[in-house]
Amino acid sequence: MRKALIAGNWKMHMTTVEGCQLAADVSKACSEFTDREVLLAPPCNMLNEVSHVIKGSGIIISSQNVCWEKEGAFTGEISPLMLKDAGGSAAIVGHSERRQIFMETDELVNRRVKGALSFDLLTILCIGETLEEREAEKTFVVLERQIRKGLAGVESADMEKIVIAYEPVWAIGTGKTASKEQAQEVHAYLRKLIGQIYEKNIAEQTRILYGGSVKPANVDELMAQPDIDGALVGGAALDGDSFGRIINFEN
Ligand code: 13P
Repeated sequence: MRKALIAGNWKMHMTTVEGCQLAADVSKACSEFTDREVLLAPPCNMLNEVSHVIKGSGIIISSQNVCWEKEGAFTGEISPLMLKDAGGSAAIVGHSERRQIFMETDELVNRRVKGALSFDLLTILCIGETLEEREAEKTFVVLERQIRKGLAGVESADMEKIVIAYEPVWAIGTGKTASKEQAQEVHAYLRKLIGQIYEKNIAEQTRILYGGSVKPANVDELMAQPDIDGALVGGAALDGDSFGRIINFEN
């Protein structure tokens, strides 16, 4: 049985005071649940403070990216060890903003994935096609490449620490959500692919999140799809009420 995971990616938003307030609101909104997990990915500068605010709530704290080395000359990076030191236990890697704006390649993303796993972090590997790729009917080819390269060298035993986030680039921050049918079609494809790379039981246990303009108004229908196991939320995660409603999605 896959436990639903609702993740809030704050991207480059919030001051520490605002972030702590939001984290306190989220803590309240998710206090009753045992059938779902909640994750927050604040900017690195406030990881420590936010970790303190949510202590005891069960909320998972994540970074928005992570390096593969524990220390060294890697200007601008956060190491898995530093993340853990600040109360984090998860990392997002391969977000389309990292791939598109900062030119991160599949190979670099794969290093990050393996680095995160070597520190036992819950690792959220983001994948997704651009509008151009979808219109050229290359969606599945692109996703297969991102999955195969992103997970290269990842052993079956480590797959329980991997979460896949399907975020069609054309749906991020645009207000354009993939329809529930479009999202389900891709999620079912991804599960089949993971079954081919690993084994069917690993595909069955792997959580696949949907991300891209998830909001209170569409979360229920997305979460009702058999292969959608959670959401990675950007804009709507910046407000306690709307993220609270998303956490409270109806089964
Ligand atoms: P939006 O929910 O703002 O579309 O962002 C999605 C996202 O990129 C989450 O990682």
